[in-house]
Amino acid sequence: MADLRRLDAEPADAAPSVPVWAPEMADFFVRHCGLCHGQTPVGGAPYPLVTYAQVVPHLAAVLRRTVELQDMPPGGGLVTDAERAALLAWVEAGAPEGPEDAAPPGAAAER
Ligand code: HEC
Repeated sequence: MADLRRLDAEPADAAPSVPVWAPEMADFFVRHCGLCHGQTPVGGAPYPLVTYAQVVPHLAAVLRRTVELQDMPPGGGLVTDAERAALLAWVEAGAPEGPEDAAPPGAAAER
């Protein structure tokens, strides 16, 4: 028999798991952006990008500068392609905050 039904699937490495804010993305922003976009932004950076609440309103601009233009951090920094892909996957998934924050311990009982 000819191998007519040969599986033509791509290797299954297309975003197997979506990163969440804590800890993966929080770590990314602290390491790559916090130097300038800290709680007190320095060097002309317009706003802090440290907490989830600070990053979420700027997701479109963050994607544009970090993934499309790749001029944030300035000079390219040490951001890897894998990190850019993770950032994109995170935003495309709706920027999930993560299980810890989705169900804070004790919050359900505290009513
Ligand atoms: C070395 C300092 C520095 C680092 C590190 C840095 N930025 Fe910036 N960022 C700036 C400065 C200065 C500006 C303002 C000038 C400009 O827009 O280019 C800026 C502007 C931006 C803007 C546009 C703001 C607006 O609304 O116009 C975004 C979005 C941004 N940065 C995201 C990031 C992200 C995400 C990272 C980490 C991946 C990062 N930056 C790392 C200095 C930095």
